[in-house]
Amino acid sequence: MIVMEETIKKEKFVIKGLAGRKTLSGSISISGAKNVVLPIMASSILFEDGFTATNVPEIEDVKRMGELLEQIGVGVEQKNKNTYSFKIKKQFNKELNKEISKKMRASILLTGPMLARFGEVHFPHPGGCVIGKRPIDLFVNGFEKMGAEIKDENDGYKIYTKNGKLNGAEIFFNLQSHTATETFLMAGVLAKGKTVLKNCAMEPEIKNLADFLVSHGAKINGAGTSTIKIIGSGLLKDKKIKYVTMPDRIETGSFLILGALSAKKMVIEKCNPDDMEVVINILKESGVNIKTTKNEIIVENNNSKQIFNGVNIKTHEYPGFPTDLQAPMTIFLTQAQGESTMFETIFEGRLNYTENLVRMGAEILVWNPYKIEIKGPRKLKGKKLESPDIRAGLAFVIASIIAKGESEIDNVYYIDRGYENIEGKLSGIGVDIKRTESSQ
Ligand code: EPZ
Repeated sequence: MIVMEETIKKEKFVIKGLAGRKTLSGSISISGAKNVVLPIMASSILFEDGFTATNVPEIEDVKRMGELLEQIGVGVEQKNKNTYSFKIKKQFNKELNKEISKKMRASILLTGPMLARFGEVHFPHPGGCVIGKRPIDLFVNGFEKMGAEIKDENDGYKIYTKNGKLNGAEIFFNLQSHTATETFLMAGVLAKGKTVLKNCAMEPEIKNLADFLVSHGAKINGAGTSTIKIIGSGLLKDKKIKYVTMPDRIETGSFLILGALSAKKMVIEKCNPDDMEVVINILKESGVNIKTTKNEIIVENNNSKQIFNGVNIKTHEYPGFPTDLQAPMTIFLTQAQGESTMFETIFEGRLNYTENLVRMGAEILVWNPYKIEIKGPRKLKGKKLESPDIRAGLAFVIASIIAKGESEIDNVYYIDRGYENIEGKLSGIGVDIKRTESSQ
């Protein structure tokens, strides 16, 4: 039932900009979080039977993860829009599909559950967005600590366990890594004995994944803090509790920035403002009028001449400023008064997109591959652009909305990897955006 990647159409967005006017209005709804649903899907390998997940975002990365799972031995069925069931089949394949894995870094999430369940996994070096080197040393070291042997061969890695089982182990991550934390959290569930993970990433998605696994029988303590303890307790069983995917923090932050720059009043619905503290604080300090309720963020521009002040931002692991909002925030800073700096501390290739903002009229000085200075406010002009990765792609959408004239954004596939029905959501608040076939 799931479409293979080769059939994906080449499309572009055509956006008519607002030339700085703040006219958007209405409500926009947040979808389920990509970066939690992918590990939740990967965790199906830990189940005796399977489970059902709701509020699953209809995005390309979910389709790719579904394809990977089908080939490994998990049946993936779309029950309704945004609702999927995952069911373990009888036969397993220990090799990850090369074509998909090479293009999607999140495929590495499958290695933990696969190794823990099948005692063996083969996979190519995982690819993904071009945002730096993205090594896998934390995974290799961790699996070795759990008793596995690793062969680095021409076409990828082969990892084996001696007796078909991973052993519980104490693993200290030299860096806080989102997917490494999740991968070993899942591996620990089927490992023999106790696993202790130290210097873990603390993103809300990790706690959410752990809570889900615990609700189906896993024994996990400390997720959401820097030390997580897992007692290997065998295959999980479907407790018939439907999993509801938590709201996407990055989509929420991106719409909040868009609202600050171009809305009269925008209500961001079905989100979790508690996960957004740093973003809300920084935008408020810069002069943005933001109110929150339990599940909504309201951003309002009562005065169309409102000036925002420049700020200095450093990306950081949660609860610091997320690297995935660095690009949208840079667009905000092109419209803020004075000098701002953006210091990207997580990935080294993640500021390359800024040369296109300069083509649009932004004044950006590149200090080094990690740091830029932005002088604002500067009026932006519509241009032909190409989405380089998921997050910079959406940043180009925001830049095109505030710019004067028409912009074309090619490589829409990247945006579709992470955002559900983006043109539908944006049209709903007044953005002039059309999806057309790409001529490339
Ligand atoms: C996750 O990537 C997210 N992806 C990324 O979102 C996000 O940008 C990133 O975390 C940081 O928040 C998913 O959750 C699927 P890391 P991940 O391992 O886990 C280094 C998006 O657009 N590192 O936390 O791959 C690494 O190079 C994406 O949604 C090693 O050195 O990132 C980086 O500098 C893009 N060795 C740092 O750790 C390793 O073995 C943190 O990366 C692993 C990572």
